[in-house]
Amino acid sequence: MISIVHAAHDSEAQLDLPAEADTLALGAALAGVVRAGLHVWLQGDLGSGKTTLTRGLLRALGHEGKVKSPTYTLIEPYALSRLDLYHFDFYRFNAPEEYLDAGLDEYFAGDGVCIVEWPDKALPYLPAPDLELRLDRAGEGRRASITAHSEPGRTCVIELTSLLRQGRTTPPA
Ligand SMILES: Nc1ncnc2c1ncn2[C@@H]1O[C@H](COP(=O)(O)OP(=O)(O)OP(=O)(O)O)[C@@H](O)[C@H]1O
Ligand SMILES: [Mg+2]
Repeated sequence: MISIVHAAHDSEAQLDLPAEADTLALGAALAGVVRAGLHVWLQGDLGSGKTTLTRGLLRALGHEGKVKSPTYTLIEPYALSRLDLYHFDFYRFNAPEEYLDAGLDEYFAGDGVCIVEWPDKALPYLPAPDLELRLDRAGEGRRASITAHSEPGRTCVIELTSLLRQGRTTPPA
């Protein structure tokens, strides 16, 4: 079960995710608060759970097929009923200029939700995120640290902590 370690103010929260199911549940909770044009950076080591979290998010947004890691394709696009979502992974960039060469800028200028693994590999070209979510190993499980960097990001953090305090991963109908 997800537990809130601390939520100091509107822009930060730390959560304990003891098992994979909790990472999926956090992704599902995010589905209740993301909005068009939101940019989310997923930070953390190899195997920390970034793709797992995205899988939970996509399932909760109604995606029924596979969720593939974009490690080789750079981008996996999803046309969902409520919004478009683009899942990126820049791990394999040898130089940040590859972000520009791949013409990915236009995705970040649009209305789609952008979820980015390994964003640092595309700096300084990648635009700043609304939300940053870091996953760290903690014993057998993970610790999630969420930071908002914009007003829409802060709204997400407030809504997300409120959902989690109620023990829910989806907003009320
Ligand atoms: N909260 C958790 N507790 C324990 N294991 C977890 C937790 N969340 C995810 N895992 C496991 O950790 C692994 C995470 O793999 P995943 O592909 O999601 O990592 P990633 O951060 O996307 O890695 P990469 O940087 O290589 O893309 C999976 O084996 C998953 O089962
Ligand atoms: Mg991954």
